[in-house]
Amino acid sequence: MSTDANALLPQELLNFLPCATPDAWVQAALEHPSLLLIDHAQCEKKAASTAMNLMYRYVEHTELLTKMSQLAREELLHFEQVVTLMRERGVRYRQLSASRYAAGLRQHVGKDDPQRLVDTLIVGAFIEARSCERFASLIPFLDDELAKFYRALVKSEGRHYEDYLALAQKYATQDIAPRIAFFAERERELIESPDTCFRFHSGVPSAA
Ligand SMILES: [Fe+2]
Ligand SMILES: [Fe+2]
Repeated sequence: MSTDANALLPQELLNFLPCATPDAWVQAALEHPSLLLIDHAQCEKKAASTAMNLMYRYVEHTELLTKMSQLAREELLHFEQVVTLMRERGVRYRQLSASRYAAGLRQHVGKDDPQRLVDTLIVGAFIEARSCERFASLIPFLDDELAKFYRALVKSEGRHYEDYLALAQKYATQDIAPRIAFFAERERELIESPDTCFRFHSGVPSAA
């Protein structure tokens, strides 16, 4: 990623992620602006529903309920903003298959609580941190309107990453560093290995 883009990101977030977005992904994103916006809209909607799912499952955790409720509202606001941009730019919303990314991380989530909760929150932190880093990596190449929107998103997704990580620490019964390290390696594989399907969180673009 360019130094320009890195300057937008907190050092802690850069240290948390195992690798930078490959240049080939940035290139593909710039070649497929409509696909990027549609999948971005999908990601915002999914981020809201992930937060809502946690609110259904863990009603006894007050801080989680508050944070996730705020997060779901914010993600839905982002969703509305992306849909507005799409309409203004004549991008037709259509169904897209999901990328392998979130499922590739979630398949390693523990089956029983509290591990299940802590892992889910760590995965949430990775998804938010990666989204934040991807927005930052695109900003230097975008038109003013989209760059301005993505700069605002870098700020809020950066906060979401912090919230997820703080909740993971709060509800864990042991040191979460080994689990973070484990998921970081899975994340690196998903980001750095060839991927035939281009999406917001896809790996290195490769021909089918
Ligand atoms: Fe968002
Ligand atoms: Fe977010």
